[in-house]
Amino acid sequence: MYPIQRNRRLRSSESLRALFQEYSLSSNDFIVPLFVIDGKQQKEEISSMPGYYRMSTDLVSIHVKNLWSMGLKSVLLFVKVPDSLKDNEGTEALNPDGLMQRAIKTVKDSVPKMIVMTDVALDPYSSFGHDGIVKEGIILNDATVTLLSKMALSHAQAGADVIAPSDMMDGRVLKIRQLLEAESYTDIVIMSYSAKYASGFYGPFRDALDSTPSFGDKKTYQMDFRNRKEALIESKRDIEEGADILMVKPGLAYLDIINELREKVDAPIAAYQVSGEYAMLKAAAEKGWLDHDQIMMEQLFSFKRAGASLIATYFAEEAVKLI
Ligand code: PBG
Repeated sequence: MYPIQRNRRLRSSESLRALFQEYSLSSNDFIVPLFVIDGKQQKEEISSMPGYYRMSTDLVSIHVKNLWSMGLKSVLLFVKVPDSLKDNEGTEALNPDGLMQRAIKTVKDSVPKMIVMTDVALDPYSSFGHDGIVKEGIILNDATVTLLSKMALSHAQAGADVIAPSDMMDGRVLKIRQLLEAESYTDIVIMSYSAKYASGFYGPFRDALDSTPSFGDKKTYQMDFRNRKEALIESKRDIEEGADILMVKPGLAYLDIINELREKVDAPIAAYQVSGEYAMLKAAAEKGWLDHDQIMMEQLFSFKRAGASLIATYFAEEAVKLI
């Protein structure tokens, strides 16, 4: 009771605040998303993600050495596929010489210890921009899941360490796990996007990969943002199916979900601070309305406080420079 207790005592100097800091951030906390394109010496800024680039594999090779020297230990790969290679079945996704497979090898050859995570979903390969095979306007579940498991295997064969299914089809973690086990890829980690919401925050990402759905939306497979219990059902099921890490996505608007999972499941949780979150801060900072670095750190710490062990973020490099 005041004045016996004064909460300001422990805040009264920089040193005291440092001693009683409950959470910290380090380079071990981050996953760096990378957008890969075909070609040589290609580096294109993504218009709705200022300061973030698509890069050809030769530049990715240099970039990941740089990231490694900063202490960053994991990258999450996405590829931009030319329209001419897209079809309804995402056939190109299984090409052993496809861009994703080459990108995995590039990272592993450049920095063998770098943890390579790959996004598994059909959308960048789909002529409809959907995460699954389309039949008469419906996104097929089971046919898609079979395909996704083959895609995951192909990534494992190319050298990926972590498979990250982001499609939200039912049963995909189980199918992927079964196929990986059957093919003796027993140590591949599955980081399931277990609570992935149908969100407007993915807009800039879809610009980056030219993967906006050509019809409808993703609400029949991604989760309804009006729901919370569903996140727990999805996540528990993914663990039963063989997931090692759960992911909540988007990040900031879903801190309650991260926190709820942290209390109710024991698996590590990753938060994905998505493209729209990055774009919002960049835009506000550009206008001089918000202090970029202060807000960036404040947001990153909120993920740690909520209970995330890992944060996939486009701010990883900038944050590590400030830590
Ligand atoms: C692919 C995928 C998406 C994102 C990650 N994986 C887009 C989507 O589901 O529409 C979004 C990431 C971001 O916005 O930063 N399924």
